[in-house]
Amino acid sequence: MKIKILRREEIEKVRGIDRSEIVKQIYYYKDGKLTLEDEFYDVTGWTPSELERNIRHLYDIHDRDGTLFGAFEGDKLIGISALESRFIGRKRDQLQLYFHHIDKHHRRKGIGRELFSKAMEKARELGARKLYVSATPSRNTVDFYMHMGCRLASELSPELYRLEPEDIHLELKLY
Ligand SMILES: CC(C)(COP(=O)(O)OP(=O)(O)OC[C@H]1O[C@@H](n2cnc3c(N)ncnc32)[C@H](O)[C@@H]1OP(=O)(O)O)[C@@H](O)C(=O)NCCC(=O)NCCS
Repeated sequence: MKIKILRREEIEKVRGIDRSEIVKQIYYYKDGKLTLEDEFYDVTGWTPSELERNIRHLYDIHDRDGTLFGAFEGDKLIGISALESRFIGRKRDQLQLYFHHIDKHHRRKGIGRELFSKAMEKARELGARKLYVSATPSRNTVDFYMHMGCRLASELSPELYRLEPEDIHLELKLY
């Protein structure tokens, strides 16, 4: 496995990532706290419209100088993490980790951690004080980010909250 910065023409390889996942528990955020509920979803992948929207967004991030890290096995893209270039937050000192996905057959092998670390290092290098993550509320996703050191966002991004109100909004302090 090799991690490298994705070139624009490699963004299409996202279509080959198997996003499927069985979800058994979901987090809810209420009154400053997280609660877990048992819920079952057989996520078979992105819907065609989600996939197109995600890919368009990845092109946008790339074109405004964001950084896309890809994990490759040979020519196959097996993981991706996208770091936005636009600073957000009242102090304009946070960068969003937009897209962090590992192919179903390659999870739990340390690839998510490696990609996350790359995005973290880059955000630090760009002068960000925090990484902002709008996380899918499934238990696996949120527990992974918590394990990486993320905590509930102390300042919700109104823009990102409007887009994904069901997500769990997290931050990672970089300093
Ligand atoms: C969440 C996801 C990115 C994690 O990537 P991964 O490659 O499976 O994770 P890693 O193997 O790198 O795990 C890194 C560490 O997190 C821990 N971890 C991973 N998943 C975890 C979980 N569900 N609960 C608790 N810890 C977890 C690992 O044990 C490992 O710990 P260690 O390094 O201290 O030993 C991946 O499972 C995924 O793509 N899920 C589906 C898509 C998704 O939810 N994306 C996020 C959208 S916001």
